[in-house]
Amino acid sequence: MKINKTAESEKKSLGVYIHIPFCIKKCNYCDFLSFEKIPEEVQNSYFLALLREINIYSEYYGNNYYVDTVFIGGGTPSLVKESHVNDLISAVRNGFDVSENAEISVESNPNTLTEIGLKTYLKSGVNRLSIGAQSCDDKLLLYMGRIHSTGDFLSNYTLARDCGFQNINTDLMFGIPGQTTGIWIDTLEKIIQLKPEHISFYSLQLEEGTRFFSMYEEGSFKETDDETDRNMYHTAVEILKSSGYVHYEISNASKDGYQCKHNLKYWSMKDYLGIGLGAHSFIDGTRSSNVSNLEQYIRIGINNSIDKTSKGLSSTFTCWQHKNTKDENISDYLITVMRKTQGIELEDFRNRFGIELKQLYGSVIQKYRNLGLIEIVENRLRFTEEGIDLSNMVLAEFV
Ligand SMILES: C[S@@+](CC[C@H](N)C(=O)[O-])C[C@H]1O[C@@H](n2cnc3c(N)ncnc32)[C@H](O)[C@@H]1O
Ligand code: SF4
Repeated sequence: MKINKTAESEKKSLGVYIHIPFCIKKCNYCDFLSFEKIPEEVQNSYFLALLREINIYSEYYGNNYYVDTVFIGGGTPSLVKESHVNDLISAVRNGFDVSENAEISVESNPNTLTEIGLKTYLKSGVNRLSIGAQSCDDKLLLYMGRIHSTGDFLSNYTLARDCGFQNINTDLMFGIPGQTTGIWIDTLEKIIQLKPEHISFYSLQLEEGTRFFSMYEEGSFKETDDETDRNMYHTAVEILKSSGYVHYEISNASKDGYQCKHNLKYWSMKDYLGIGLGAHSFIDGTRSSNVSNLEQYIRIGINNSIDKTSKGLSSTFTCWQHKNTKDENISDYLITVMRKTQGIELEDFRNRFGIELKQLYGSVIQKYRNLGLIEIVENRLRFTEEGIDLSNMVLAEFV
């Protein structure tokens, strides 16, 4: 806790994302910024650089912002020594006022969680754990290049509960070649039986640079057709809703009150600060991203400097920054906020931008309302269930 600061009531809220770019093994589908087999000395240097970056930003933003969400993501944060995670959280607490009820999440991969590690997380203040289950079908897990089996996931999940985690997310994926709708339903049912507070369910995206992409180019990867993919998606929404989950974002559902507060910041266009390799920030109307070369990031951590430009703060960790124009803010708002199933609150739009959404986009709204893809309910503009499937096409006309 620091002294001589603006009273918390005058401060704005901030989400802090910290990126850990290490994995045991790269999965066949994943193009997230993460590397396998990075030696421990390099990992240690990376954490020193992270601490340096947190210190720099806390000096600059600590007086104006308080932190109410921290998300340590990756990569596989649970792969590194738990003391590293503890150090990161302590650094955020030292530099910022962190709300007493702040949501502090850590992403993890089954097979990397231990009792000691989980208990250390809890002591450090981690109160939300995300576990990448992906599927409960062992053949599929192998095909995806995962390092875990369903049994490994179940034992790690149970361990996390036994250690005291009361807010657990599980990540699932569908639309994987060889995954029938029956296999997908079976996974959903097995997961729901465990009663996690939150479930993310992602449609497989074929990304360049991945093993799946090479297989696709060689002709040995058969993409799931759109109809099956959409059928799997709507089946999941139906099953989750009928099991007491609130479907609150295109790919996310939770028990009431357990929406991910950190991710909601992205989907509500609130301020967040990204720390670490390739991390993105949106703060004071400026978007920025960090360098994505690991050696360069660590080097900067050793010889860092800080510049205050007319556009805001840029540290040498930053490789790109851009102050949004009002039009860009409106486009970004539409793209991000429409991901929430509740859509856009028309009053919030008016308060933010000083103009009615209907005044700007009346004819587009009318066109897609007539087609049944969007609707206005209780002063909110949102996608219909059918509209979610065509959301990219609709949003392209709004931006
Ligand atoms: C950043 S990853 C980190 C989670 C953790 N390392 C793990 O794999 O268990 C977050 C989630 O994104 C999803 N994901 C990654 N690549 C994807 C892809 N190509 N298509 C769809 N979902 C993907 C997976 O469900 C994954 O759990
Ligand atoms: S899905 Fe998770 S474990 Fe697999 S490569 Fe991506 S970040 Fe690493």
